[in-house]
Amino acid sequence: MAHKDKQEKAGTPHAGSGIWPAGRYMDMRRRSLQDPEGFWSEQARKLDWYKTWDQVLDWDPPYAKWFVGGRLNACYQCVDRHVRSWRKSKVALYWEGESGEERVLSYSTLFREVNQFASALKSMGIETGDRIALYLPMIPEVIVAMLACARIGAVHTVIFSGFSAYAVADRVQDTGAKLIITADGGYRRGKTIPLKKNIEEVIDQCSSVENIIVVKRTGEQVPMKEGRDHWLSDLMKNADMWVEPEAVEATHPLYILYTSGTTGKPKGIVHSTGGYMVFNHSGYQWVFNIQEQSIYWCTADIGWVTGHSQVVYAPLSHGAAVVIYEGAPDYPEVDRWWDIVEKYGVSILYTSPTAIRTFMRYGEKWPQKHDLSSLELLGSVGEPINPKAWHWYYTHIGGERCPIVDTWWQTETGGIMISPTPGIDPVPLKPGSVCFPLPGIDTAVVDNEGKEVEAGTRGELIIKRPWPGMLMNIYNDPDRYQATYWSQFPGYYDAGDFAMRDEDGYMWVMGRSDEVLKVAGHRLGTAEVEDAVVAHPAVAEAAVSSKAHEEKGESLVLFVILKKSEAPSDTLKEELVKRVREAIGPIATPEDVYFVNSLPKTRSGKIMRRVLKAVASGEEVGDVSTLENEASVDEVKKAYESLTQEAEA
Ligand code: WTA
Repeated sequence: MAHKDKQEKAGTPHAGSGIWPAGRYMDMRRRSLQDPEGFWSEQARKLDWYKTWDQVLDWDPPYAKWFVGGRLNACYQCVDRHVRSWRKSKVALYWEGESGEERVLSYSTLFREVNQFASALKSMGIETGDRIALYLPMIPEVIVAMLACARIGAVHTVIFSGFSAYAVADRVQDTGAKLIITADGGYRRGKTIPLKKNIEEVIDQCSSVENIIVVKRTGEQVPMKEGRDHWLSDLMKNADMWVEPEAVEATHPLYILYTSGTTGKPKGIVHSTGGYMVFNHSGYQWVFNIQEQSIYWCTADIGWVTGHSQVVYAPLSHGAAVVIYEGAPDYPEVDRWWDIVEKYGVSILYTSPTAIRTFMRYGEKWPQKHDLSSLELLGSVGEPINPKAWHWYYTHIGGERCPIVDTWWQTETGGIMISPTPGIDPVPLKPGSVCFPLPGIDTAVVDNEGKEVEAGTRGELIIKRPWPGMLMNIYNDPDRYQATYWSQFPGYYDAGDFAMRDEDGYMWVMGRSDEVLKVAGHRLGTAEVEDAVVAHPAVAEAAVSSKAHEEKGESLVLFVILKKSEAPSDTLKEELVKRVREAIGPIATPEDVYFVNSLPKTRSGKIMRRVLKAVASGEEVGDVSTLENEASVDEVKKAYESLTQEAEA
């Protein structure tokens, strides 16, 4: 079984011995579960509040409200707090552009820019509670814009700059955003991404948008509509240097971030201000053991939850020095990242298994060109890390010195839930295991009936009580919120992941139990991809599945039934791949396309993706007794085989 392979020991000084959990961690854990409200209010006191809460938790399942009656401001926590101390001259952001430009922003510079940006937002008529869409590359302005929104109580929704114009339109429509903040373009592998032009393509479908703020990045000519489009530089010239932070309710939404689900359109995950900030502030210390002198680099793009929590809100709430990089990891050479680590003296590096596997393929000669001795701690997130990649990371990046925190969490959980916690106690590690839940997090592994399974048995991962970073809702869709997370195991949060607890109590997360796909750590829903394919006039029906991919973890495989009048062709294949790229973005590019005559379905008509996945991976198909049409399994298999032969020939 897969997890047996994963359980092989590291043979490193950090290897698991089964003597953990122990010590301080165990004390905190006990206390957090015995008196959660006492525990979390202690954590909350680490932040600055305009008004303290009347009630720690109002739990009306499935809705949790944390720190009810309390008032605070997330931007104040991340910026103002620090400029009132010696940290005003400390570096907040080290930014490096793809072509090598650098910008260094101290906390006082960040403070000034955030205030001016907030003033610009106000001049556009933005008020507390208004939604603002951000479609920006990894440049300091994206962080400034997020904090400026938070400062005035506006709700940001950041859209990954690698997403297509259609993805922007969807999200803008769903949130009813009044304003879009974008750039003339961004850089990726030496090419520019035309962000403003993309928006122009769909702006007619975004009727809620009154204004667009444009950041000048590439200097390319872009269409600017008089009265609607404004250069940020012009707005900043006339902006005030001080905007009073809005003392919002703890339950005021800080942001909406879209993520893929099993069915339908992406879901707008809504996060609170108070609970979210408290949870991230605490967890960041426990997991990363952040020190005043740490130089911290989380490589995630701002468009993902990791970019929100682990690039912006958690580290800045600690006054940390944060490195951000705009471009591709292997541009212009594959040692770009190691060059950055050396140059800025990065001490904490937090990245994804996909990135590690990519670098592993390029070989250790690239990191060996650089002095990586500043590194003290490594992190991993987004997908399971296989022991081989773990060892490579440990040896060739961490120099066998640095513990690896493998952190399990989700867009919905707001912050890290299960991870080693070197900030509490040194942790004996097991490569591939996410170790133990953070204090206050009550996890269990259960069978389909919700009964806890024995150690060593795979089951569904659930969370038995609310935590402060828990999503508040799905924007505009409470029914879906209820159905997605709370219907299978009433009263418990259903994470949608398979997991296992081993005999020593260590947790192993083993991939999604639902139909969410994970390509290079990015979440994709089957429906989003299929909708794009079915929209092609030649297509009658389509199903997307995945197969194992050495670097990306999973890659997309399309199974397509054409209309009777159509014949399969390579041109058609290319068109379908292009459609998906255009509808979602390059990250969703299908790796294989198979034309078939039928799809394996259950009697109730549900596509059996498990079968497709097995077929695409060349595995045994397993039990198909619930299939409507067993012949179609052979059909799909045959199509697969002939295509593979074709590819090999
Ligand atoms: C997966 C990313 C194994 C998991 C922060 C989860 C992981 C989904 C890990 C959430 C990990 C994340 N080990 N699997 N350390 N971290 N996952 O919302 O399937 O983009 O449900 O959040 O990623 O993805 P999301």
